[in-house]
Amino acid sequence: MADLLVRRAGRVFGMDVDPPAAIVITGGHVAAVVPEADLHGALQGVAAVNGLAGFADCPELEAAGRAIVPGFVDAHTHLVFAGDRAAEFEARLAGRAYETAGIQSTVAATRAASHSDLVGGLVERAAACLSGGTTTIEVKSGYGLSTEAERRSLEAVRDAASRTPAELVPTFLGAHLAPEAGYIDTVVEEMLPACAELAVSCDAFCDVGALTVEQARRVLEAGKRYGLVPRIHAEELARTGGAALAAELGCASADHLVHATEEDAVALAAAGVVAVLLPATSFCLRSAYAPARMLLASGVTIALATDCNPGTSYTTSMPFVIALACSCYGLGVDEAVRAATAGGAAALRRTDIGHLRPGARGDLVVIDGEHWVDLAYHPGMDVIAHVVKDGTVVR
Ligand code: NIG
Ligand code: FE
Repeated sequence: MADLLVRRAGRVFGMDVDPPAAIVITGGHVAAVVPEADLHGALQGVAAVNGLAGFADCPELEAAGRAIVPGFVDAHTHLVFAGDRAAEFEARLAGRAYETAGIQSTVAATRAASHSDLVGGLVERAAACLSGGTTTIEVKSGYGLSTEAERRSLEAVRDAASRTPAELVPTFLGAHLAPEAGYIDTVVEEMLPACAELAVSCDAFCDVGALTVEQARRVLEAGKRYGLVPRIHAEELARTGGAALAAELGCASADHLVHATEEDAVALAAAGVVAVLLPATSFCLRSAYAPARMLLASGVTIALATDCNPGTSYTTSMPFVIALACSCYGLGVDEAVRAATAGGAAALRRTDIGHLRPGARGDLVVIDGEHWVDLAYHPGMDVIAHVVKDGTVVR
């Protein structure tokens, strides 16, 4: 929770401030975003309000006219896993279809990994996320699929959290598959009681080859009884009714939505469910893209996320996701950046991240250029100059 002065910024996303601008961060939070000309007065004001002596020794970050956006909020990842599925990916390139059964090979590798390997892998991937500008990462379990292994995955998230500057937000996804009869009973009666204290949300993979709507409803309602916020993988491989269930249960988010209809969109908008869209998954599976423009036109709040997982989307890069959202969903760059920041925050039901208004966490990205359009204009290139988390320069 550091103090930092970001000096001579160009455009600041979402803030109506004339450049060159300064961002004052104190105690890890944004205190002021002002034109450089007003910085002296602003510092006196911030010092007085916070009972500080002054900012004489405060570290500074020179932005040199570059554009600044809030730290990205990646609201959908499966970052706790071991092993990889490169061979499965290559087989798909050669024409094989995606099958949810592939999850089981990651389950075997994850169960075989030691706790310190799981933590180490997660810390490494979180570093890659941070380097791409992601400062908050939702992390799902779901490659354990037994009470012991699901709990171990969530313990890995807990233990990794103190070894990365990124904020990790844990979600219980014991209902990633329903591999055998009676499995949902085990999730509800055994896994949730054992895992709930380690998670903020409960997710379920509702789709062909995974859970039915009835099974997902059972899991998410049980999760709610443990105080877990419901969210759902819905309408990814086929339209099976997950979006309507999300609206019925008041889920924080419905994710994927490749096959969502206008009727689904109207229900999601009315229930205030955020649509978390995952274009890198469509890209890697070479499948259809979610109807992002239709969802927006129906009044749904959208978020963009990586879905980082070893089966269907092995990328940690939010800049790549933003580029895909612009070129493949037809979003404008501002719409995509908003979805990758404030949209992700809304999906996580957070008001302290995803924007740079006073009071927000001091999480920001200095783009290596004058405008954030570079995020989409230079796909696959590294367009990030600096990353700041809670007022500390981490890149
Ligand atoms: O979000 N859709 C469900 N889960 C992951 C992928 C699962 C896997 O194949 O490992 C996803 O795409
Ligand atoms: Fe997913």
